[in-house]
Amino acid sequence: MLEVANLEVVYNDVVLVLRGISLEVPDGSIVALLGANGAGKTTTLRAIGGLLDVHEGDVTKGHVTFDGADITELDPSDRVKLGISQVLEGRRIFGELTVDENLAAGAYVNRDRKATSAAYDQVMTLFPRLAERRKATAGYLSGGEQQMLAIGRALMQSPKLLVLDEPSLGLAPLLVQQVRDIIVDVNKAGVSILLIEQNANMALSIADYGYIMETGKVVMDGDPQKLLKDEDVQEFYLGLHGDEGERKSFRDVKHYKRRKRWLS
Ligand SMILES: Nc1ncnc2c1ncn2[C@@H]1O[C@H](COP(=O)(O)OP(=O)(O)O)[C@@H](O)[C@H]1O
Ligand SMILES: [Mg+2]
Repeated sequence: MLEVANLEVVYNDVVLVLRGISLEVPDGSIVALLGANGAGKTTTLRAIGGLLDVHEGDVTKGHVTFDGADITELDPSDRVKLGISQVLEGRRIFGELTVDENLAAGAYVNRDRKATSAAYDQVMTLFPRLAERRKATAGYLSGGEQQMLAIGRALMQSPKLLVLDEPSLGLAPLLVQQVRDIIVDVNKAGVSILLIEQNANMALSIADYGYIMETGKVVMDGDPQKLLKDEDVQEFYLGLHGDEGERKSFRDVKHYKRRKRWLS
């Protein structure tokens, strides 16, 4: 369904941030895109959504393809019309507007009345909590409810593919579980998911496939079970091997371990 092929992205004509990223989201699947701060995850999302221009970014090589069509140069709103919706980092809801008004704002490209009301009904079914608080001012919702609203708003466009940028960021563990369950429910409702996360545990627990990015490249990809079992992934992302203190880069961990193997 979505294919990113050998993508290079440059900011301000000079800073090369994506250095040949390739990834795929097959129809109906949940795919996790993992990586530390600054790896280039959000830049990948911007390239998929057509939001690079706003940030002085440019695709200098490679392609983004959706349902077989090359969308690399397409306007953001046309991508939404094709079925790609995004939930940007940081739950950007309209705090002064009500839940309903936020959802109505999300339907801006969804001109068809019937489609809009079907999408609204779906959101109310998926999020009973939002249904209860339809008339509430969004700014007064809890962090978890605001994240639901941000996801609900993206669903108002009846997407085929939903791209989420670190939806668990800043949420308490219980709410992380809630968001995780919501993503599973949205996927069951027929929406493919590209889940960008730093929380590897959460993302890999529901993903069909995972990619790990570092400094603009995919350094590892595969089956979530395989990634979860990988010692380097465990050490770097899951912190299962002690070694608190400074967080090494994924590459450093690898080099360090190689050296250790040679020395022992
Ligand atoms: N608008 C921009 N202009 C210049 N550099 C940027 C811009 N946005 C992000 N970057 C840089 O690109 C790199 C990747 O950032 P980003 O895609 O936000 O990574 P992530 O989402 O994985 O944290 C970082 O080094 C960041 O500083
Ligand atoms: Mg980011």
